[in-house]
Amino acid sequence: MIKYSYLLLLTFFSFTLATAQNDIQDNEINKKIDSIVSLLTLEEKVAMCHAQSKFSTKGVERLGIPEIWMSDGPHGVRAEISWDSWDYAGWTNDSITAFPALTCLAASFNPNLSAQFGKSIGEEALYREKDVLLGPGVNIYRTPLNGRNFEYLGEDPYLASKMVVPYIKNVQKNNVAACVKHFALNNQEHWRSTINVEVSDRALHEIYLPAFKAAVQDANVWAIMGAYNKFRGQYTTHHELLTKTILKGDWNFDGVVISDWSSAHNTMEAAVNGLDMEMGTGTDGLGTTTSNHYDYYYLASPFLKAIQNGDIEESVVDDKVRRILRLMFRTTLKPNRGFGSVNTEAHHDVARKVAQEGIVLLKNENNFFPIEDKEGITIAVIGENATRSMTAGGGSSELKPQFEISPLEGIKQRYKKAKIIHAMGYHTGPSVYDNIIPSTLNQDSLRVQAIETAKKADIVLYVGGLNKSHLQDCEGDDRQSYELSYNQEEFISELKAVNQNLGMLLVTGNAVETPWLSNVNGLIQTWYLGSMAGHAIADVVSGDVNPSGKLPFSFPKKLKDNGAHFYGELSYPGDGTNQYYKEDILVGYRWHDTKKIEPEFAFGYGLSYTNFSISDISTDKKKYSLEDTIKVSCSVNNLGNTDGSEVAQVYIGKQKSKVKRALKELKGFKKVTLKKGDSKTININIPINTLAYYNESISDWEVEKGEYTLYIGNASNSITKKIKVRIQ
Ligand code: GLC
Repeated sequence: MIKYSYLLLLTFFSFTLATAQNDIQDNEINKKIDSIVSLLTLEEKVAMCHAQSKFSTKGVERLGIPEIWMSDGPHGVRAEISWDSWDYAGWTNDSITAFPALTCLAASFNPNLSAQFGKSIGEEALYREKDVLLGPGVNIYRTPLNGRNFEYLGEDPYLASKMVVPYIKNVQKNNVAACVKHFALNNQEHWRSTINVEVSDRALHEIYLPAFKAAVQDANVWAIMGAYNKFRGQYTTHHELLTKTILKGDWNFDGVVISDWSSAHNTMEAAVNGLDMEMGTGTDGLGTTTSNHYDYYYLASPFLKAIQNGDIEESVVDDKVRRILRLMFRTTLKPNRGFGSVNTEAHHDVARKVAQEGIVLLKNENNFFPIEDKEGITIAVIGENATRSMTAGGGSSELKPQFEISPLEGIKQRYKKAKIIHAMGYHTGPSVYDNIIPSTLNQDSLRVQAIETAKKADIVLYVGGLNKSHLQDCEGDDRQSYELSYNQEEFISELKAVNQNLGMLLVTGNAVETPWLSNVNGLIQTWYLGSMAGHAIADVVSGDVNPSGKLPFSFPKKLKDNGAHFYGELSYPGDGTNQYYKEDILVGYRWHDTKKIEPEFAFGYGLSYTNFSISDISTDKKKYSLEDTIKVSCSVNNLGNTDGSEVAQVYIGKQKSKVKRALKELKGFKKVTLKKGDSKTININIPINTLAYYNESISDWEVEKGEYTLYIGNASNSITKKIKVRIQ
């Protein structure tokens, strides 16, 4: 007994010591910061608050204070950009590992994988000598048309919150700052720089802010990026409610607020509402042609003059500089900072693992997948997406990977016995790295070739979907229709007409309309998977890996079935000036469940090559107090003859309530890996305070007492058991 208590004591003191050490460290740093601030001239302070180049801010050479260097993006470190233009710098040593885009990471429902992702991309950012990695993006998936959904973590704030925290923590363990973005309500690209979003406080706090709040309060993110759009008439990048009151006030954020590139619009607001580092301004008449136009930034000479003539207190710039210096002590001034690494086998393994676990099996009639590699069969891999680069394009998240294994390449390398043949079928125009000139490709002949190829094969794998071109999955604007472009629906039916054995790989970062679904026997959602795309796809297609991904967003059958599109133009995309989130808190599956509109594929849905059941579901109690935690236990059983992973999901709803509610909301999940025939009992704990709703009448969170229903299953539309509990 003595030995045990000694151990407990030792643990307690070491924890206290560590916390104390952190506090001492923070105090030490704060003292250093104060002493540095006292040495700086006003001009030097102001110069630190805005860009000196496309992706860097000034230091103070006189005092040995370094510059700060930033780089995109959320799923890879972007190639070096020129000092003062968007042109690439043409370096030959800046190619990197392209990791899967974040919708794939979200689909893995595996926070441990998110930690590995963050560690790896942080090592690559450190190696590329970046102090701030401009990612992850966590804007909620409100409409399937948003051009940047592929960069984000889906439609559910709980899933996004749970998946973003490990990523940020592990980027920052490399002494590189993550910069969670875009704060806030940047849920479309159309009119992104000007649109004014109107949304209720409840939807703001319950749907659109939670992932940012988790980044700040659970992951201690060191930087956050403002968004382009307005909210209630004010630009979000320097917004009194968002950046001043909520972020730096209520959430006590001690890091830096960085603007999006040219998202700052006003000196006084930027000064007093909490913008710390202004980047990319080149609009509003400040023109990039002006010599040394950086002096014309809102937080440059206008800011200096406002302080000099007393319109703004010097303490305002001092706070910004303190935050910037704290960022430096956490990154570029960190002793023994390390050197990072790039393009390592370890990073390639993580990229492949995230891809493998994020891929979602959506349909598998007569076990079309997996496809066995055997002598004598011919597999036709058809479609432009079988070879098109998907790391090129897409906007600021585009990458220059050391390599990118295409779906065709991956399948060719994996299948040694079967004969693999290929036809492009159609060409949509050059991607950045694509050296095929469309004029030399006659679309009709491409089509005919593909049909002939399909006729020769035993199995046809059509690789379709979207791509990273403008008006597809790309920053800067949204898709203009929910369907697949380039007449793919017609093409798929032509392929089916000549070969009944047709499966499809859907390369998108978004939901799409699926009128062609009955024409494909098997359907796999393969995301944008980066460097290891082809290998991960071949791993799943061949059965080397059993798919375990679950959709992080719903696939509505029709666009009008989606909440953002139900209320017409004013809701999406707005009237060019304002837009109103009229679906309010009913985003994604919350809309489908509550309005009883069945989606094509539901949030949380994904098939496997084996069969699972969830049984013996129970809660530890039936009655809970506000301080309690609901302990859900269940057994997950692998009933098939293949090892695999399942995601047990717990949703909670309140039928009788004094406020509007979604039928149910995700409040817990756990991914379980099981050998064939195995079972495992798991616990999912749900603190009662996470059931709070945002009470607008008191501008605060409140847990409503009364009866709640727990829904336990393996998808939002696949519930095994409901359990009623009371909170009293
Ligand atoms: C872009 C993006 C932002 C990116 C920045 C720098 O406009 O909105 O996500 O980090 O500019 O490229």
